[in-house]
Amino acid sequence: AQSHTRTQAIRARKGGEPIACLTAYTYPIARLLDPHVDLILVGDSVAMVLHGHENTLGATMEMMILHGQAVMRGARNACVVVDLPAGSYETSAEQALASARRIFAETGCHAVKLEGGAGIKSHIAAIVAAGIPVMGHIGLQPQSVEKEGGYKIKGKSSESAASLLEDARAVESAGAFSVVIEGTIEPVAAEITRILAIPTIGIGASVACDGQVLVIDDAIGLTVDRVPKFVKEYADLRNEVAKAAMSYAAEVRARTFPAAEHVFHKPTPKN
Ligand code: KIV
Ligand code: NA
Repeated sequence: AQSHTRTQAIRARKGGEPIACLTAYTYPIARLLDPHVDLILVGDSVAMVLHGHENTLGATMEMMILHGQAVMRGARNACVVVDLPAGSYETSAEQALASARRIFAETGCHAVKLEGGAGIKSHIAAIVAAGIPVMGHIGLQPQSVEKEGGYKIKGKSSESAASLLEDARAVESAGAFSVVIEGTIEPVAAEITRILAIPTIGIGASVACDGQVLVIDDAIGLTVDRVPKFVKEYADLRNEVAKAAMSYAAEVRARTFPAAEHVFHKPTPKN
C-alpha cells in the first residue's frame, strides 16, 4: 500500500513542479539523497558505476536485490525504483512478472523499471496487474548497446520519432506510472511529454520532460571513466577523494597520523 502511495504521488506531479531523481546504490548515498530528491533509482548502471563492468549487461538479479536492500535501509521518504537487469524479463510476460515479484518482495522497493516500449507492453501490463508499480524506460536503452553497436540518440529521423511515440503510448497504456526517456532530441521529448498523462523523466532528453534523472556518481564528479555529454557535475569528488588519500598516505609515512587524540589510553588512576 505504501509503495502505491509513493508512486501515486509521483504520478500526480504530471505537469507540475519537475520531479528530481538521482540513482543510488548504497545506504549512505540513499540517506544523503533522501531529503532532497523525489525519486531514487537503483539503476542497473550499478554494474558499471560500482562494479566496473563495461556496460549494464553485467548487472544480475542478485546485484539489483543487494543494492536495492541497501538503498531501502536509507530511503525514508523518496520513492525507490529498482531496475530489472538484462536477461531477467525479455523472454515473456511470465518471466518479467517472476523477476519483478522477486525484486519487489526481497527489497521492499516501491516500483520496478524495465527497458522497452511496444515490444514489452504485455510484460509491463502483467507486472502492473500483479499490483507492482512499473516505471517504463524508452529511447536509448543501454541494455541494447551490443545489439545496436553503441549508444545511439533516438528520434532524429521522423520514422525513429514515430516509433518512440508509439513506445511511449504503449508504456502508458500498459499501466506504467511514469517513464524514463533517455537520449533523444528536445522536440521529441516535448511531444511525448505533451501526449502522455504520466510524467516523463528525462536523461539526455532536454528540459522539456516532467523531471530529470542522473547517475549519482556522474552528478557528484566521482565517475572515473567517460562522462557523457548530458551530465552536469555538481561536485568534484574525484579530486576530494584523491586529495584525502594523498594527505592520509603522507601522514602515515611521516608518522603524524594517528596523533595523540586518535589513540586510546589507560585510564589515569583517581588516587
Ligand atoms: O540504470 C540507470 O542508472 C538508469 C537511469 C540513468 C535512467 O536507468
Ligand atoms: Na538502467
